[in-house]
Amino acid sequence: MKLLSATFLLMIHIGCTFAAVLVSDHRNDEPIVGVLAQELSSSRHSGSSYIAASYVKYLEMAGARVVPVKINLTKKEYESLFNSINGLLIPGGGANLISSGYAKAAKIFYELAVKANSQGDYFPIWGTCLGFEELSYLTSKKFLLSKTNTTGLALPLIFTNGSRESRMFKGFPEDVLRSLASEPITENSHEWSLTLESFNNNKELRNFYDVLTTNMDGNVEFVSTIEAKEFPFYGTQWHPEKNAYEWTKPYIPHSPSAIKMMFFMADFFVNEARKSFHRFSSEKEKAESLIYNYSPVYTGKNPGSTFEQIYIFT
Ligand SMILES: *[C@@H]1O[C@H](CO)[C@@H](O)[C@H](O)[C@H]1NC(C)=O
Ligand SMILES: *[C@@H]1O[C@H](CO)[C@@H](O)[C@H](O)[C@H]1NC(C)=O
Ligand SMILES: *[C@@H]1O[C@H](CO)[C@@H](O)[C@H](O)[C@H]1NC(C)=O
Repeated sequence: MKLLSATFLLMIHIGCTFAAVLVSDHRNDEPIVGVLAQELSSSRHSGSSYIAASYVKYLEMAGARVVPVKINLTKKEYESLFNSINGLLIPGGGANLISSGYAKAAKIFYELAVKANSQGDYFPIWGTCLGFEELSYLTSKKFLLSKTNTTGLALPLIFTNGSRESRMFKGFPEDVLRSLASEPITENSHEWSLTLESFNNNKELRNFYDVLTTNMDGNVEFVSTIEAKEFPFYGTQWHPEKNAYEWTKPYIPHSPSAIKMMFFMADFFVNEARKSFHRFSSEKEKAESLIYNYSPVYTGKNPGSTFEQIYIFT
């Protein structure tokens, strides 16, 4: 009897230890997310590419560290980075979707991620605004965008049927979903959009993504949030990273619900990155790769600037 209970206790003990190990084994609490750079067109700064600091702060806010993914590296260098980081954020901006260094790097990561995820190696990708458009191009291999009247406005999201049960939104608090659906807190600044009609008419996109939300520009309904069906790939035509960090445009919402919403967006994607176990081959390589090696420049004081701060790379 005594032996039995001791064995029983031991079993419970082993069970708990095992469970604890399993849990920590399946979550990487030190996620490092790559943020893709793009061509710097402004002649005000000397440098060839940049990353807006708001994307970096957005990911850091939710517990990730950031590594810049510079443009025009070799395929080999991108493969090595891919195996070192736990996800990629493809930001908004103005680069060419097909021929830019941004587009070429995005394509390499997209193809590596499709292959890795197909083999059970989790690697999430997020596209924001131009990054969303880049995902639509990479999946369909076609330029399917249309001009819309959406270059500077905040909108509430129109949720599609069932999208509150999507991976992205199912963990959101009820009040955040309510704000997203009823208050103009998602910032849009894009000349081009993927109309719902173009999405529905394209078999590749239809088979690959679920449309979680749409929006209207007054005339046309366009896709505003997507989630891939079989891959941890996500995109928003709107900007979840701006609310707390960008102040240069009057249409960026800074209300309490806008700030709270962006946290849950970042939290979702960083939790996706916590499912990836890629790592740098050494602490030294990691330290030399992190964004902390660079200092952001204050650009918000320049007339017409889109961003408060950007990182510039030579
Ligand atoms: C990167 O490559 C693109 C396209 O090949 C080119 O237009 C751009 O000038 C290059 N930028 C740098 C920094 O090398
Ligand atoms: C574009 O939308 C704005 C409101 O966001 C509206 O004031 C303007 O008239 C629209 N322009 C066109 C060409 O439809
Ligand atoms: C979504 O649900 C609403 C209300 O139940 C229904 O009227 C509408 O037809 C549905 N739309 C689609 C595309 O299934």
